[in-house]
Amino acid sequence: MMTEIIAINPANPQADRIRRAARIIKQGGTVAFPTETVYGLGANAFDQRACESIFKIKKRPADNPLIVHICSMKQLHDVAEGVGEEILKSARLFWPGPVTLILKKTDAICDAATAGLKTVAVRMPAHPIALKLIEASGVPIAAPSANLSTKPSPTKVDHVLQDLDGKVDMIIDGGDTEFGVESTIIDMTKRPFVLLRPGAFTVEEIEKHIGGIRIPKGINKQLNSGIAIAPGMKYRHYAPKKKLIAVEGRALFLNGVKNLSEQGKIAVLCSNETADRLECKNLEIIRLGSEKNPYEIAKRLFDSFRLLDKTDAGMGIIQTFPERGIGLALMNRITKASYAYVRSEAELKRLQNLIT
Ligand code: TXA
Ligand code: MG
Repeated sequence: MMTEIIAINPANPQADRIRRAARIIKQGGTVAFPTETVYGLGANAFDQRACESIFKIKKRPADNPLIVHICSMKQLHDVAEGVGEEILKSARLFWPGPVTLILKKTDAICDAATAGLKTVAVRMPAHPIALKLIEASGVPIAAPSANLSTKPSPTKVDHVLQDLDGKVDMIIDGGDTEFGVESTIIDMTKRPFVLLRPGAFTVEEIEKHIGGIRIPKGINKQLNSGIAIAPGMKYRHYAPKKKLIAVEGRALFLNGVKNLSEQGKIAVLCSNETADRLECKNLEIIRLGSEKNPYEIAKRLFDSFRLLDKTDAGMGIIQTFPERGIGLALMNRITKASYAYVRSEAELKRLQNLIT
């Protein structure tokens, strides 16, 4: 398929270009577009065939539902049912913004968009291109992240091109995304509300607005490998192709870098502060930014995973960050991308025996 690549100004989207993209959505096609979190791969949320094509293009498992994007509070009622005052209040606080709410779905939303569930994930993005595109399309847009399944989410148009060029009808180049991690997902069909995915909007901020939400134990303990260096970490998710090892604590991290680099070249994904303390040779250093600004680190994280795979290093080692504020989402993505999570000298030894 020929993919049309079109640049749109994020600060002031050109109306004629938005119309061209919207025409594709209306005709049942697929358009990759920027949001404030990551790029999304969009199709008409009312169109079963269009939404099915998203799954085919991404090679996404059929049981993993999409997020439906809306551009107004009025449109919320086209996608969700039984939206009472309590939910409206939350929606008004968070939207437009990087929060996705799980609600009861309307019949109009196609089964593919929700993977057959009776609930729907809804979000009003805070990005002028996304909002204008939904508005011009006249329909809600179902959009998962615009990466191939198992690859990191795209934060740059280059990432989208790497994964989807030739597979989708259009890719909108709207520059780098602002947050670089996906939206926070809250299940509003349960009481208390439940956090399903930590994301760009912090839990602390959410709780300030709507009170306590339930955070399931182990939400940040899912590794991509089947191995359990520490117990209870046996899940699979996206990851760089190269093995990535997360190491907690600066001293242990520096020690891990030293030991692992003795066996061959490794890539080091770390803060500027940590990078300044690295002394070993045989390293490919990928700086994530200053620890003083964890938002900067979050913004670069997915790009750093893709950079890791481009290096000639045998594996990567990444430092961990405090699970506060945006740090919760940051650590959630780091853990999911990691082959192992190391917290002690003993675990480091065990890991070295395992991988050498
Ligand atoms: O920031 C974001 O959320 C980006 C941009 C494009 O909006 N989208 C995104 O979509 O990250 P995706 O498909 O990569 O992640 C959607 C997540 C999945 O983990 C899925 O399981 C969950 O939303 N989800 C969707 N519908 C759901 C439902 N009805 N119940 C529970 N989880 C749901
Ligand atoms: Mg995704």
